[in-house]
Amino acid sequence: MGSYSDFHRRSLAERDAFWSGEAELVHWQRPFRQVLDYSRPPFARWFVGGQTNICYNAVDRHLAARGDQPALVWISTEVGAEKRYSYRELHAEVQRVAAMMMSLGVTRGDRVIIYMPMIPEACFAMLACARIGAVHSVVFGGFAAASLAARIDDAKPALMVTADGGSRAGKAILYKPLVDEALRLAKEPPRKVLIFKRGLDPDMPVTPGRDVDWAELAKRHHGAQQQCAWLESDEPSYILYTSGTTGKPKGVQRDVGGYAVALAASMKHIYCGGAGETMFTTSDIGWVVGHSYIVYGPLIAGMTTIMYEGLPIRPDAGVWWRIVQDQRVNVMFSAPTAIRVLKKHDPSYLKKYDLSSLKHLFLAGEPLDEPTHKWIAEALGKPVIDHYWQTETGWPILSSAPGVENTPVKYGSPSFPVFGYDLKLLREADAAEAGPNEKAVVAIVPPLPPGCMTTVWGDDERFVRTYFNTFSNKLVYSTFDWGIRDEDGYHFILGRTDDVLNVAGHRLGTREIEEAVSAHSNIAECAVVGVADALKGQMPLAIAVAKDASKLADEASRAKLEREVMETVDRQLGAIGRPKAVLFVTLLPKTRSGKTLRRAIQALAEGRDPGDLTTIEDPSALEQIRAALGKI
Ligand code: PRX
Repeated sequence: MGSYSDFHRRSLAERDAFWSGEAELVHWQRPFRQVLDYSRPPFARWFVGGQTNICYNAVDRHLAARGDQPALVWISTEVGAEKRYSYRELHAEVQRVAAMMMSLGVTRGDRVIIYMPMIPEACFAMLACARIGAVHSVVFGGFAAASLAARIDDAKPALMVTADGGSRAGKAILYKPLVDEALRLAKEPPRKVLIFKRGLDPDMPVTPGRDVDWAELAKRHHGAQQQCAWLESDEPSYILYTSGTTGKPKGVQRDVGGYAVALAASMKHIYCGGAGETMFTTSDIGWVVGHSYIVYGPLIAGMTTIMYEGLPIRPDAGVWWRIVQDQRVNVMFSAPTAIRVLKKHDPSYLKKYDLSSLKHLFLAGEPLDEPTHKWIAEALGKPVIDHYWQTETGWPILSSAPGVENTPVKYGSPSFPVFGYDLKLLREADAAEAGPNEKAVVAIVPPLPPGCMTTVWGDDERFVRTYFNTFSNKLVYSTFDWGIRDEDGYHFILGRTDDVLNVAGHRLGTREIEEAVSAHSNIAECAVVGVADALKGQMPLAIAVAKDASKLADEASRAKLEREVMETVDRQLGAIGRPKAVLFVTLLPKTRSGKTLRRAIQALAEGRDPGDLTTIEDPSALEQIRAALGKI
């Protein structure tokens, strides 16, 4: 085993040679002629001239050696079902869905919105898009109609794929009424909607001519063969919307070749997942972790991937560990919130099962606090690796890479910059490099490595303006996170530099939630801040000014308005954005130039000193918040 620091150094100093080597981990139908074209900074084109296909690498490539090995194991504790698909079966399913999509008019480059629960068909649909060169955009099933409509209007899909419903804690959540509402709101709805019926909504409404029944169409395409389209390395593979500081989510666009190589390299050097082994990632296909490490990464590596529909504590807090035992899971990937939930339950659940197959547990998505890190590492008796990345990057930015070197873990630290990333900690004021233990902006010197976003869908200018504009004197990519590096070179992430919230590992923009709150007819103005929460990391808190204050005359009417506002957020954005409380005031704390003092509100709500308030227009605004906070 070599040293990781040498490995990382080589990935930057001998960039082309390094990535040419990693590119051998995937199949190229036509070899690339140039490793990187960086003639138009900050846009990077990886493996120029090469042709490949992610679905081919994830499925077809394994047929000869492992056709009968399980590729996908679906376990649902929601509907009490389990299904296994070998690589051969997955190949047949994906070809059929690809043929179904083509029969509905989908061609290379078309967008397909996938709005589905955690069922195998969602995975087939993603792979089918990749197969024919359609660009999927998976929208998390927890998003409500208005959010879905905004994504539809941006992506302009030719097709939408959905299901009659999902299930949470044994309760059916019907998707179709929501989808119908989103399509009514959308300015450019897709011509066709393909619907997989799980039997959760016997009275599901159908729009003739538009809605297509999955099972019926599948019957007509039984045994279909649908070849992979050979795509240029830099063609778009998918769009995934993510929240930023504005109300309008950004479509993170990814390529084909760079993404395939980055995932293959991460499976080998970071996750240590080899062909024939099993990976269990507890995320959802609607998030980037689901894209990279439920679907594409493990399959590219020839592993068996577990897709789990259910909660971590149902039927009991041992359910995940039972899966690890029964499926002989080798690599597991989860989020800190889930571990904090498990920590509240009897630790004997961890001792009850045979976890000997497990090599590592990886955690990401939000800060991993030291006590939680320590608790799970000791309870499991296995290395627990905190690693840090973003929807934008698609794969880890900071991590240890046990496939290269077993560096010791420090609790609460995602260790070191991943190979390919020229990561810097830059002082906010002048972009100078920060010293040890000095809080600074986590930045990446471009070109971004393979696998990272190539642009914002349909908006190159927004890509540059959003991510590369933090410093006027340096062209660097800002992660919008604060971080520090200690004297041993270990990194720690301290939270966002912008107004992005992280609720249970789910990323939400304050603007998005504010727009949802303001959709209530009696809200004149509002501010949303993220407030520390012991379980979920952060929770949104809304401060609102009512148009008609008579609706707040007594406690009962105040509580009613608060409830209505929360329901409005559920309807507009989804329950994941619901504030933990709505505090009503008569004015928001603002500077004299009209900027809302979100940081001061946040500090008050977290019991901290609100800091310098010399610019505040009316100090009584904060007093009102202080008083309202005292009541919750
Ligand atoms: O603030 C960082 C936080 O989550 C953000 C990215 O969220 P998302 O786009 O949903 O991608 C998640 C991919 C794992 C980051 O900007 N974050 C992610 N991982 C960590 C983290 N914060 C601290 N420690 C982490 N390990």
